[in-house]
Amino acid sequence: MTPEQKAALVAAAQAVREQAYAPYSQYLVGAALLGTDGRIFIGCNVESASFGATLCAERGALARAISEGNRQFEAIAITTRDGGSPCGICRQSLYEFAPSLWVILLDEAGSIQAEMPLRDLLPRGFGGESLP
Ligand code: THU
Repeated sequence: MTPEQKAALVAAAQAVREQAYAPYSQYLVGAALLGTDGRIFIGCNVESASFGATLCAERGALARAISEGNRQFEAIAITTRDGGSPCGICRQSLYEFAPSLWVILLDEAGSIQAEMPLRDLLPRGFGGESLP
């Protein structure tokens, strides 16, 4: 990931966070996923009055990328108000396609609060290689 790609990824996560639909939690999340071909796929959280139907920003971005034929990813930038970490379900979903993904966590001001490989967030992750 070049510095220019990283800057674009951060900017995309910040921007898409503004589209988040989170009337129940008020916790707006923006995610931008960088494909190995340089394309960026964005997603925001979409809540539901039936809380369990809520879609996280990271899985929204992932679904968009997969739907557009991209399955290889280098990094993801995630913006929340406080630089919060992705939930367990999102960690697992991202691990499916990119166990070595680089994760960048940003606060709403655009400051990087933390960055690390997905493997640090999901040690000894479960992947399809374990299945017959
Ligand atoms: N949320 C995400 O979008 N991604 C995460 O990884 C953590 C949680 C959303 C879901 C819900 O709309 C709000 O944040 C509070 O849980």
